[in-house]
Amino acid sequence: KGKRSTNIVWHKCSVEKIDRQELLQQKGCVIWITGLSGSGKSTLACALTRGLHSGGKLTYVLDGDNVRHGLNRDLTFKPEDRAENIRRIGEVAKLFSDAGIICIASVISPYRSDRDAIRSMLPDGDFIEVFMDTPLGVCEARDPKGLYKLARAGKIKGFTGVDDPYEPPLNCEIVLEQEGDKCPSPEDMAEKVICYLDVKG
Ligand code: PPS
Repeated sequence: KGKRSTNIVWHKCSVEKIDRQELLQQKGCVIWITGLSGSGKSTLACALTRGLHSGGKLTYVLDGDNVRHGLNRDLTFKPEDRAENIRRIGEVAKLFSDAGIICIASVISPYRSDRDAIRSMLPDGDFIEVFMDTPLGVCEARDPKGLYKLARAGKIKGFTGVDDPYEPPLNCEIVLEQEGDKCPSPEDMAEKVICYLDVKG
């Protein structure tokens, strides 16, 4: 952080993304699922990877919670650590995409500037931002890990949506709304994303 490598030169190989894509018969890209805790990001990521995998596509899921068990275990939820969390996940997702893989990242990524930074790192069309537009009240009623309850009781500080901000995307590729009874199934939502990918080739 703050330090940068110097005197480094990019080394190009003769096998490139286009060659890997041809081998895999697919296009590498990053599907970035953003939304509040409990909004259904991980559930969608699983349904999406399953749906694409069944259709013969090679995918990989980077889930915020999971990556924080390893690569990002040194990071907290302070704004600068969240930014570093997103930067690292974005860089890894870019590598997967360059490998020709469809990389699905499911991370709260609450700050617009952090998400936009990942978008600008990738070629046009390779970053597909999916907003899980689930109202806070619905996420809180679900509270699958009991974290909202702890946050409301002041036992977790800086919890997204409670005492830390979430900035919704202004111009993302896909918005998935989920409200109470009108909740579409994870498979229906995944299908919507897959249709988008089909249309875009
Ligand atoms: S972020 O904001 O993008 O860096 O977060 P992420 O890496 O996706 O991790 C989110 C999961 O961490 C749990 N958790 C918290 N979330 C938000 N705020 C605070 N303070 C916090 N502390 C722990 C929470 O379970 C998130 O999981 P999901 O899957 O989103 O519910």
